[in-house]
Amino acid sequence: MKLVTIIGARPQIIKAAALSRAIKNHFSDRIQEVIVHTGQHYDDNMSQVFFDELQIPRPDYNLHVGSASHGVQTARMTEGIEALLIKEQPDFIVLYGDTNSTLAGAVAAAKIHVPIVHIEAGLRSFNKSMPEEINRIVCDHCSTLLFTPTKAGLENLKREGFSIDESGVSTLRQAQGSTTAVPTIDNPKVYHCGDIMYDNSLHFANIAEEKTDIIQRLELVGKPFILSTIHRDSNTDHHERLGAIFDALIELSKENQIVLPLHPRTAKLLKTNLSNEKQSLVFSSPNIKLIPPVSFLEMIALERHAQLVMTDSGGVQKEAYFFKKPGIILRPETEWVEIVQTGNAILADADESRIMEAWQHFKNNPPTVFPEIFGDGHAAEFMLDKIISCKVL
Ligand code: UD1
Ligand code: UDP
Repeated sequence: MKLVTIIGARPQIIKAAALSRAIKNHFSDRIQEVIVHTGQHYDDNMSQVFFDELQIPRPDYNLHVGSASHGVQTARMTEGIEALLIKEQPDFIVLYGDTNSTLAGAVAAAKIHVPIVHIEAGLRSFNKSMPEEINRIVCDHCSTLLFTPTKAGLENLKREGFSIDESGVSTLRQAQGSTTAVPTIDNPKVYHCGDIMYDNSLHFANIAEEKTDIIQRLELVGKPFILSTIHRDSNTDHHERLGAIFDALIELSKENQIVLPLHPRTAKLLKTNLSNEKQSLVFSSPNIKLIPPVSFLEMIALERHAQLVMTDSGGVQKEAYFFKKPGIILRPETEWVEIVQTGNAILADADESRIMEAWQHFKNNPPTVFPEIFGDGHAAEFMLDKIISCKVL
């Protein structure tokens, strides 16, 4: 079986590590993976570092699309992916998450009848002003095999008309005139499988402790600190929201160390969307460590040692949970609703007083119970097993 895997943005490269590792360890005799990097992320610390560190095979192709408006970027990727699918003739295309690289892969593949495997299906923010929400919905509805990491994802798909029985596994609708139950785009199959990022966090947690010295380099040994990341366009592109988040960070930095690995989008927009006064407070504060994006091993070392994680990232809010850290989510809503339902993360939006309240809450009541809601760390093997069995149905 041949799979074409599309990656492009940082979290997709990291997620792909789990699938590629499972193929190498358990399915190398049955699955050939062709990796296509769209080039959506291209700085070394947003892309190459993950290939070097996580043993991901070198991409077979790089489309080098770079940064552009949504339409231009997605169109360039779609054109490139279509040509490669025609050339490679895979059994499936594998798409991760909800970025423009995901959308381009979905549109290119569906139109020329290459079946889509969507990993991280079913997640919804119910906020269509997010580009990612559009990308997820389109990709799910173009897919043939949908792997959802959470029960909420399964419920969302059910509400959108995907047929799922009481045991939580999808039942294939018998397409009109069809005599077999082979999944197709009109007869898709949904599986609840756990989270592929959890696979990675479990696999790399101890390796990170051995191989990185970021805690020592940042002089954080034995010191409590808050880890924060900010990159969501709804925060970076609006000076009021970005200002409110930084007001909270400045306030927190009076008594706490803060580590803030800056996404390049945020690094650029800080200069235009944060007032000069706030910029100088942030840049001059000895307690705010503004650093370039870090590698994945460094990131999980930071997450493991942090006291609390404050983020608008999907991946980072989950990893905080994996490492049993309280989270303050800098968004009005989340797709990872279970984390909030457990009480271990609080939605504080870009609102200084809500952020400070959430901080006080977790300071007084550090969470101790983190139920297993992201599977058993073997989501990749489960998915590959289902993909293989699909071929022989
Ligand atoms: C993208 C995804 C988002 C995901 C995030 C992960 C979309 C619509 N958004 O957002 O869902 O959470 O990736 O990090 O697909 N830039 C660089 N160097 C790079 C990459 C980007 O400087 O290597 C800068 C450019 O100025 C670019 C900006 O960051 O315009 C935004 O990059 P883009 O890939 O368009 O969106 P992200 O904000 O990274
Ligand atoms: N990450 C990283 N270095 C950083 C920031 C994040 O390796 O400096 C990792 C993080 O551990 C997680 C993933 O990137 O696995 C999350 O990606 P991001 O926050 O860019 O996007 P999102 O998950 O919101 O789509």
